[in-house]
Amino acid sequence: MSRFRTIDQLEVTGRRVLVRVDLNVPMSDGRVTDATRITRLRPTLAELIAAGARVILLSHYGRPRGKATPEMSLAPLVGPLTAVLGGRPVAFAPDCIGPVAERAAAALADGDVLLLENLRFHPGEEANDPAFAAALAALGEVYVNDAFSAAHRAHASVDALARRLPAAAGRLMQDELEHLELALETPARPVMAIVGGAKVSTKLDLLGNLIRKMDLLVVGGGMANTFLNALGVAVGASLCEHELAETAREIVATAKAARCEVVLPTDAVVAARLADGVATETLSVKQIPQDRMILDLGPATSAHISRRMAACRTLVWNGPLGCFEVPPFDAATNRVAQAAADLTRAGGLLSVAGGGDTVAALAHAGVVAGFSYVSTAGGAFLEWLEGKTLPGVAALALAGGG
Ligand code: 3PG
Ligand code: MG
Repeated sequence: MSRFRTIDQLEVTGRRVLVRVDLNVPMSDGRVTDATRITRLRPTLAELIAAGARVILLSHYGRPRGKATPEMSLAPLVGPLTAVLGGRPVAFAPDCIGPVAERAAAALADGDVLLLENLRFHPGEEANDPAFAAALAALGEVYVNDAFSAAHRAHASVDALARRLPAAAGRLMQDELEHLELALETPARPVMAIVGGAKVSTKLDLLGNLIRKMDLLVVGGGMANTFLNALGVAVGASLCEHELAETAREIVATAKAARCEVVLPTDAVVAARLADGVATETLSVKQIPQDRMILDLGPATSAHISRRMAACRTLVWNGPLGCFEVPPFDAATNRVAQAAADLTRAGGLLSVAGGGDTVAALAHAGVVAGFSYVSTAGGAFLEWLEGKTLPGVAALALAGGG
């Protein structure tokens, strides 16, 4: 892996290291409800601490739009960070630039950790303002980006700051990039993508990119209805973007020309509405009644996907296959996710998943640990699948010095 620098290429001992992390974690009543993004920072932080770096953590939280907003303070993250670091104290500065931050940074000894207040309390962060980046850079000597999940934002702490100091990817960033490369850029073939979720309209770029790179593209979730409808299948009262029929046909035609096989549902679980305990039926997609909606893929389809997956060596997964939040419409997602985990454990499949609802769906299926890699990113993972250059990754590749 030579396209970006890692901590291995950075001199950190005794130096103040600005580490961009993503502490934008789900919280309720001031408590973290899913600490995955914090836990996954442990390798980088433990390594920097062990090397005697003076660690200064930078993060955004929420969308305070450039104003100090007490509900979006990072102060409640001190406890969870301390826990992840095995009880090591974490200092906190109530501003991320200026005299308060400078004093706190100057007070650090080797191996100490300091968390600065929410970057987005300053408008300069989202504006990628050079003056704001300079104020951040004044606090440290080198820069590490371990926030892949924020790498799609051309913000000061992600972009401008990385260009001011010797910069490198942290271990989490490195892990994310290496797995995405293995899955998407240089995959062992055949390679299958599973793309689900509600709407085609939010995933046009993603589909356009994947059909050029994949051998098989499985379309599930509400999106599949739009494809079925476009191909002349009546989808009843299902969620369906009728206005995208032509676009969907183009995607299928382009896929064919690129020798990417598109796999669509052949059967479905339908109901009159999406609700707990509602009566369901499993039908061929050719028999969907006008007043019924497709809420999950049927068992024949999920068995077919699993069978095809068994012949693949790489899997990229984004989006649930059905309305997994409301059982029994989680069945197809659970079955196919389990199949992916089983094939991964057996050693024949590299499985990489990420983006928005995907992690929640895989957690619901109980298979997160069974995948080769599950990304911490939502939007950044999607943009990578779209083939876009992420500003935070580009900045690391370009950064000089050291
Ligand atoms: C995320 O949670 O997706 C990242 O932290 C980015 O947050 P944002 O969408 O508010 O920029
Ligand atoms: Mg987001």
